[in-house]
Amino acid sequence: MEVIRLDGRHLREMADLEQLCFPSDPWPALLLASALGGEGVLALGFCREGRLWAAALGRLAADEAELHSIAVHPARQGEGWGRRLLLEFLAEVRARQGRVVWLEVRASNEPAQRLYHRAGFTATGRRPRYYSDGEDALLFCLKLDNDLD
Ligand SMILES: CC(C)(COP(=O)(O)OP(=O)(O)OC[C@H]1O[C@@H](n2cnc3c(N)ncnc32)[C@H](O)[C@@H]1OP(=O)(O)O)[C@@H](O)C(=O)NCCC(=O)NCCS
Repeated sequence: MEVIRLDGRHLREMADLEQLCFPSDPWPALLLASALGGEGVLALGFCREGRLWAAALGRLAADEAELHSIAVHPARQGEGWGRRLLLEFLAEVRARQGRVVWLEVRASNEPAQRLYHRAGFTATGRRPRYYSDGEDALLFCLKLDNDLD
């Protein structure tokens, strides 16, 4: 797998990954397009033989970054690609002078929470009924001075 920067050319494949990985609330292609074209965008993926297998999308504003979404194709989940992509994302934030990373995750999403804990994130809050189906979000934060990688 090769790590690549994602842009508008990858929109269709990113939207397909969203559908596969977040079937109940995927980011619509229009929102993805706007995020990809936005200021401070951080968008990385893993590609093999021209096919996108994993994507991470976020934004950097001043020295704070937000990770909006990280998704690994279901056929490749549990093989370490999510962890590798998260570490690439954090390296990119650090290279662009980011100091803090925030993200929200579904309270029921244990694999993702394990991934974030292992990368050094800590849960710092809870947003009740954050998602459209009423599920709570947990707020995670990583100060890049203190991470573990
Ligand atoms: C969450 C996700 C990005 C993790 O990527 P991944 O490549 O599958 O995960 P990795 O192989 O790098 O493993 C990371 C951790 O998640 C755990 N994990 C991965 N898939 C799992 C599964 N299906 N069930 C339980 N744990 C799982 C691994 O055990 C590992 O934890 P460990 O280091 O303590 O062993 C990926 O599973 C995914 O795309 N899920 C659907 C979308 C999603 O929930 N995204 C995150 C919310 S923003």
